Amino acid sequence: MPVIEMRGIERHYDLGEVVVKALNGVDVDIGEGEFVAVMGASGSGKSTLMNIVGCLDRPTAGSYILDGIDTAKIGTDDLADIRNGKIGFVFQGFNLLPRTTALENVELPMLYARGGKISPKLIGERARKALERVGLGGRLHHVPTQLSGGQQQRVAIARALVNEPAILLADEPTGNLDSEMSLEIMTLFQELNEQGITVVMVTHEPDIASFAKRKVTVRDGLILADEPIADRQDAKEALAAWHARHVRFLEKSEATA
Ligand SMILES: Nc1ncnc2c1ncn2[C@@H]1O[C@H](COP(=O)(O)OP(=O)(O)OP(=O)(O)O)[C@@H](O)[C@H]1O
Ligand SMILES: [Mg+2]
Repeated sequence: MPVIEMRGIERHYDLGEVVVKALNGVDVDIGEGEFVAVMGASGSGKSTLMNIVGCLDRPTAGSYILDGIDTAKIGTDDLADIRNGKIGFVFQGFNLLPRTTALENVELPMLYARGGKISPKLIGERARKALERVGLGGRLHHVPTQLSGGQQQRVAIARALVNEPAILLADEPTGNLDSEMSLEIMTLFQELNEQGITVVMVTHEPDIASFAKRKVTVRDGLILADEPIADRQDAKEALAAWHARHVRFLEKSEATA
């Protein structure tokens, strides 16, 4: 049984004078343990689709079954609970609270969990574990301005992971990062995926998509193509190759200096 099952999903934005049809009948199934890259031109409907997958928004028409639950049949508060429990969301702009430490940023989703009643001690422990999982055990008390872009994105990923979601959604997670940081984030995504987390990631970059297992292309609010990734890349290897090239480049520039 797929964890994400969409049939005929439409999303229309009614702006009064015009209605923008962002999604026009999307059918897609995503199974447990998949790693899907969603591609498509700007304005094609990728973020609109992700917001529906992530239960941040509801479709105008069509059905969305999430892990066997018909999302149309449940109220907004219950939908929020399901989202908090099953889904972690990562955005291009990190969306961290400024002047707030990495640890506190990661604690947030647990503080907002309805009816959860987790003790402050356990909240702190879980947040620390999540930060260790993304390799930031040594940066617990740093605020966002004291972290690199890649590290900030890893804090955001730790925050997305802290409630142990089955699904990780990422909307252009490497959009604001340079190549080295992007490869670090892709290494982390591949590791998480190997640990069983289903990953759905929007990207504009074919290089980044090549780390996924399947590519879904969106055009004009419809799925244009849906295919397995033929020569899937290993992000850890790509990162090592990047470092090797970089060291060689530095040695060369030192030699000519
Ligand atoms: N809140 C909104 N109100 C009205 N129209 C919207 C809204 N959000 C998105 N749209 C429109 O819906 C269409 C799809 O937008 P969406 O943000 O899903 O595109 P996208 O594929 O994520 O693009 P990008 O690659 O630039 O992020 C666009 O035409 C956009 O202008
Ligand atoms: Mg978008």
